[in-house]
Amino acid sequence: MSEQDKSHNQGFTLTDNRTGDSYELPVIQGTTGPDVIDVRRLYAETDCFTYDPGFTSTGSCESKITFIDGEKGILRYRGYPIDVLAEKSDFMEVCYLLLYGELPSPGQKKKFEHDISYHTMLHEQINNFFRGFRRDAHPMAVMCGVVGALSAFYHDSTDINDPKHRMIASYRLIAKMPTIAATAYKFSVGQPFMYPRNDLKYADNFLYMMNATPCEDYKVNPVLARAMDRILILHADHEQNASTSTVRLAGSSGANPFACISAGIASLWGPAHGGANEAVLNMLTEIGSVDKIPEFINKAKDKDDPFRLMGFGHRVYKNFDPRAQVMRQTCHEVLDELGVEDEPLLDIAMELERIALEDEYFVEKKLYPNVDFYSGIIFKAMGIPTSLFTVLFAVARTVGWVAQWNEMIEDPSQKIGRPRQLYTGDVERNYVSLHKR
Ligand code: CMC
Repeated sequence: MSEQDKSHNQGFTLTDNRTGDSYELPVIQGTTGPDVIDVRRLYAETDCFTYDPGFTSTGSCESKITFIDGEKGILRYRGYPIDVLAEKSDFMEVCYLLLYGELPSPGQKKKFEHDISYHTMLHEQINNFFRGFRRDAHPMAVMCGVVGALSAFYHDSTDINDPKHRMIASYRLIAKMPTIAATAYKFSVGQPFMYPRNDLKYADNFLYMMNATPCEDYKVNPVLARAMDRILILHADHEQNASTSTVRLAGSSGANPFACISAGIASLWGPAHGGANEAVLNMLTEIGSVDKIPEFINKAKDKDDPFRLMGFGHRVYKNFDPRAQVMRQTCHEVLDELGVEDEPLLDIAMELERIALEDEYFVEKKLYPNVDFYSGIIFKAMGIPTSLFTVLFAVARTVGWVAQWNEMIEDPSQKIGRPRQLYTGDVERNYVSLHKR
C-alpha cells in the first residue's frame, strides 16, 4: 500500500488552546485493528512532542507479521489464528510462515527443515565461551553473552542490506538457539555437551540435547516433543512487545543481527516479560502449600503491597490470552502423560488458578492466567530447571525477532529509532568550582 492509499483525510483536528491554532492529523488505516493517528509532522508543525511512557497508545512501526486483538483474545501469525497453527501446524512451518509470509509447499518445507538443521552446530570455539562462565551463572546471562558472541564468528553475512546475508543470519540464529540453550544447561549441571542430531525434528532435537548423555540411548517422548513444539509455536511472535521492540530499536542503527538478538534476550529476561514463567515457579515455591493461597491472594490485592500474582494479567489481553487456552490443554496432556500426581507445586498452581478465576478482584480487573502461568507448570513437570524457563521462551521467540528485524530493514520508511522526552530537570545552572562547594 502506498502512503497515500493508507491515509485518508477524515483525520483528527488538533487545536492548540494556548494559541488557537489548528492542525490536521491524518489517520492511517491498517487491514484490521485500530487506525493510527499519524503524528510524524507534529513536532515540525506544533513544536510539541507526544508523551506516552510505556507506549500504551503508540504504534512504533508498520508490520504485516502478527496481529493481536487484546479485547477479543485474538492472536494471528500472518493471518492464521494461533489455535489453528498450534493444532495443525508445526514449529518449522510456523518459522517459514513468519519469515516468508506464506505457508510453505511440501518441497519448500523439506528444504527449509534441511537448511535449518544444516546450521544447528556451534563453532567449536563457541563451546569454550560456556566454559568461561561460572557454573551457577543464570542461563539467560549465558544466552546474552553467547548469542552476542556469535557476531564475532560470521563475517560472511554482515551486510544487513543484502537480503541473502540477512536470511543466512536468520537461519543461523533459529538453528543454533536450541543448541546454545541446551549447552548452557549441560554446562550448569556439569554434563558433557551433546551435539545436535540432524535426523531429529527441531523440538525433538532440543529435548535430546537437553536430556541425553553420551552414556546411554535416549528416546524422545513424542507427547513431550509435541508439547514442546506447541510451546515454541505459541511463543514464536507477539508483535511489538518489549523484547521485539528492543531488537527493532537496536537493529535500526544498522547493528549486527546477533548483537540485536542478544539485546532482545536481555529485554526478555525481566519478570514482567519472559521472566514471568520463572517467576511463577518461584512464587509457587514461596506460597509453599495450598492453605497459604488466600494469604497471597490478599497480598496481590493489597494496593500497598508490591506483590503481584505472577502469571496473571497481560498488557494487551484483557479478556483471555488465546495462547493460555492452548497451553492449559497442553499442560494437562503433559501432566497425564507423565502421571504427575501429588506434586505440591502443581497442586498449588491448579488451586491458585481456580481461586483467581473466581475471585472478584481478578475477574473485575480481567486478570486471567497468561501463557507463562501454564508454560512454567509444563516445564516443571518435564523436569526442566526453573532458571531455564525463560531461555526456552528465547529459543521460541528468536524466529519472531528475526522476522521483525528483517521487516524493519526492508521498510522504506525505516529510520533509526530515536524517541524524545519531556524534560523536567534543571534548566541551566552555573558551574560552581569544586573548592567553592
Ligand atoms: N496480580 C495482582 N494485581 C495485578 C496483576 C497481578 N498479576 N496484574 C495487574 N494487576 C492490577 C494492578 O495492580 C492494577 O491495579 P489498579 O488498577 O488497582 O492499580 C491493574 O491490575 C492493572 O495493572 P497494570 O499494571 O496497569 O497492567 P499492565 O497492563 O501495565 O500490566 C502485566 C501487565 C503483565 C505487567 C501485569 O499484569 C503483571 O505484572 N503480571 C504479572 C507478571 C506476568 O505474569 N507477566 C507475563 C506477561 S505474559 C508474557 C509476555 O507476553 O511477555
